[in-house]
Amino acid sequence: MNNRNTELQNKREKAQLGGGQARIDKQHAQGKLSARERITLLLDEGSFQEIGMFVEHRATSFGLDKLKSPGDGVVTGFGTVHGRLIYVFSQDFTVLGGSLSETHAEKICKILELAMKNGAPVIGLNDSGGARIQEGVVSLAGYADIFYLNTRASGVVPQISVIMGPCAGGAVYSPALTDFVFMVEDTSYMFVTGPNVVKTVTHEEVSSEDLGGAKAHAEKSGVTHFTAANDVECLRKVRELVTYMPQNTLELPPIASSKPFSKDKLNRIQQIMPDNSNSPYDIREVIDCLIDDDTFREVQQDFATNIVVGFARLDGRSIGIIANQPASMAGVLDIDSSRKGARFVRFCDAFNIPLLVLEDVPGFLPGTDQEWRGIITHGAKLLYAFSEATVPRVTVITRKAYGGAFDVMNSKNIGADLNYAWPTAEIAVMGAKGAAEIIFKSEIAAAEDKEAKWKEKEAEYAEMFANPYRAAERGFVDDVILPEETRSKLIAAFKMLENKSETLPKKKHGNIPL
Ligand code: HXC
Repeated sequence: MNNRNTELQNKREKAQLGGGQARIDKQHAQGKLSARERITLLLDEGSFQEIGMFVEHRATSFGLDKLKSPGDGVVTGFGTVHGRLIYVFSQDFTVLGGSLSETHAEKICKILELAMKNGAPVIGLNDSGGARIQEGVVSLAGYADIFYLNTRASGVVPQISVIMGPCAGGAVYSPALTDFVFMVEDTSYMFVTGPNVVKTVTHEEVSSEDLGGAKAHAEKSGVTHFTAANDVECLRKVRELVTYMPQNTLELPPIASSKPFSKDKLNRIQQIMPDNSNSPYDIREVIDCLIDDDTFREVQQDFATNIVVGFARLDGRSIGIIANQPASMAGVLDIDSSRKGARFVRFCDAFNIPLLVLEDVPGFLPGTDQEWRGIITHGAKLLYAFSEATVPRVTVITRKAYGGAFDVMNSKNIGADLNYAWPTAEIAVMGAKGAAEIIFKSEIAAAEDKEAKWKEKEAEYAEMFANPYRAAERGFVDDVILPEETRSKLIAAFKMLENKSETLPKKKHGNIPL
């Protein structure tokens, strides 16, 4: 019996070392933690339960039969984060570069299946050289099995991908299918084809970092939702993010026990709006003054900065915020901001997180670039996402709500539950200057002093529509409220809506303009 226990102990110790101490040291020298160290930091202390520690690959080609390592390059199992069940897999770069074999894929698939059956989030820590080259097609099939399950799990349980090393080739599509992607600066990269292939095909010289590092994907592509300076900070951020989410689509997000709110924000919020309605202000200041202290977690903060999206707590409850940002391109909607907003709305709706929209939008961005790249289709994504959302939805128009963008940004007519406007709101088909030029064209042309006439007509139009009252008279806005009243109005609104129940017409699935 003792010998058997010792054998188990030895096998466990061997498995703990993955590809060996020398390779773990190499990870450390590169500023990376090992697969197991990452799990330890991610989960509550002592909560990790491993599954498949002794799994080994079955391949024999190219000398692989002599290259076996218990666990086969991925550590899988479950544990808790802030006391709540989480499934996890963590690729071990020290074992054949974390490459994905048939059995490695099977381990990940088992985790995804368990997560779906038991209704808990999956967090994947990626650090891999991609398909195990020696295994050929079975490895590719393994990836396809993962992609299939990622898709099946989408909207059932939250899925988070954390890129902590290489993630290249088709391997990138698993993270892309999940809800949120984190990347670690300097040590992680993602691309479909690496710098060598890029050079051969397009003759561009580009480094891995510039092509697919954390900065590139945070600012240029929007592929990553969050970045972190190192593994430790990254895993801390992941732990925090899941506190805003429910375990699965059938549950509600947890309610925080504390609801800190600094009363001075009620004064600060009155000072934010500039006198000149064309001057910028930072919508994040408005958000900060409305929500529980320090609870805003911005998503894709450096991508499409003309829209701000993220999670926050309002009176302890999780909400998703989508806000036009007047401090970036005047808050105009374009292709990237529409895609960013739509994707976030979809996540919140899938996981029962109520939506708060802060609206200050001058319209859609004009130009051939936007039109030819399909602003029509991409703008429709945001419209579709809001229209289909059945979670509680509240809008506050802080200033401009012009043109089609008024409709798109969670207007009452596309199903918002309550729409408020500040006294500074301007709700019109377009700005007063442009409107006057069109509808009073002949009058202006006939006038002796055309400039003066134009100004007079502009003022006339502004008087009519550069306020919230025409919309309020028609019920498109439910109430006009002061900035300092907004927090308490929102708390009351979301409380009133907490039992909202709405179902979509029976269908297989809709056809979102992808
Ligand atoms: C088998 C691999 C491997 C792989 C790395 N290794 N990638 N073994 N299959 N895909 C092994 C290396 O042989 C090496 O073994 C060990 O892992 C560490 O790798 P190094 O190259 O020494 O590490 P480093 O210098 O840090 O470079 C990391 C790397 C590089 C950039 C990831 O290893 C690399 O380019 N690997 C190949 C990447 C690739 O082309 N993958 C296939 C992509 S296509 P030893 O024993 O020598 O230490 C793909 C298709 C997916 O993934 C399709 C899904 C639809």
